[in-house]
Amino acid sequence: MQVVILDNADAVANYGANIFVRRLQRQPASVFGLATGSTPVALYQKLIQTYERGEVSFRDVTTFNLDEYLGLSGDHPQSYRHFMNQQLFEHIDINPGNTYVPPGNASNPISACEEYEQLIEKHGGIDIQLLGIGRNGHIGFNEPSSGLRSRTRVKTLTPATIDDNARFFEDDEYQPHLSITMGIGTILDSRQVVLLATGSHKADAIRDTVEGPLSAACPASALQMHTNAVVIVDEAAAARLQHADFYKHIERENQQLLAQLGIN
Ligand code: F6R
Repeated sequence: MQVVILDNADAVANYGANIFVRRLQRQPASVFGLATGSTPVALYQKLIQTYERGEVSFRDVTTFNLDEYLGLSGDHPQSYRHFMNQQLFEHIDINPGNTYVPPGNASNPISACEEYEQLIEKHGGIDIQLLGIGRNGHIGFNEPSSGLRSRTRVKTLTPATIDDNARFFEDDEYQPHLSITMGIGTILDSRQVVLLATGSHKADAIRDTVEGPLSAACPASALQMHTNAVVIVDEAAAARLQHADFYKHIERENQQLLAQLGIN
C-alpha cells in the first residue's frame, strides 16, 4: 500500500485528481468507481476545472458509484445520484447514460445488486476506484464486520454512520438506515484504489487501515491485500501513523525516480 502524506486537504484533492487525469489522458474510455460524502468534493472540483481548461474529456468515461441509500429515488435531494449529478456529472461532458449508481428505489434490491455486479463486469471492471473512509473504517457502506470478500448487497448502516450522515438531512426528514453498497470484494477487484482522508477525526481509521491487522473490524484494512492501492491523507489524518516518516521518505524517493524517468 502506498501512503502519501500531504500538508493539507487541498494538496490531497490535487494529488488524487492527478491520478484520474493522467489515467484519462492515457485511456479516454476509462471506467471510474466514484464515492460520495464530503471528502471527494474537492477532488471533483479539480476534475471539473481540468475539464474546463480543455485538458480532459469525459465523453467516453463510464462511472460506477459505490453506494446508494435504499429507499431513496435518484431525484431525492439526499440521494447519492442527486449528489453526483450536482457535484460532478452536470459540470463535465460525461454521457449521463454512462453514469451508474446503485438503484435505491429498486423494486427487487437483491436482484438489483446482482445486476450491478454484472454491469461492472460487462464494462470490463473498474480501472480506478475512489474511496473515502468512515471514522469506523468503513469503505462504501461496508461497515465493521463486513465480509472481506463481500459483493454488492444490501447493508444495514451502523448507528454511528447514521449519526455522521444526519448532518445532510433535515430534522424531520426520513433518513434511510439501509443501503446498497459494492462489497469489499467488488472494491478489491478494481485495478487501482485511491483512498482519500482528511482531518483528525479520520486518524484512528487511517492508522487501522494502514498499520492495523487485516480485519473486518476495520473494513478498509482489506486494502492491504490490494496490489495497487494508494492512501492519500493530510497531516491531521496521518497523525496516528507510527511510520509516517518512513512513508514520507518512500514518497520522496518515488517522486525522485519519476522525475528521473521523466514521468510527471
Ligand atoms: C460514500 C461512501 C462512504 C464515505 C465515508 C466518508 O459513497 O462510500 O464510505 O466515503 O462515509 O464520508 P466523508 O467523506 O463525508 O467523511
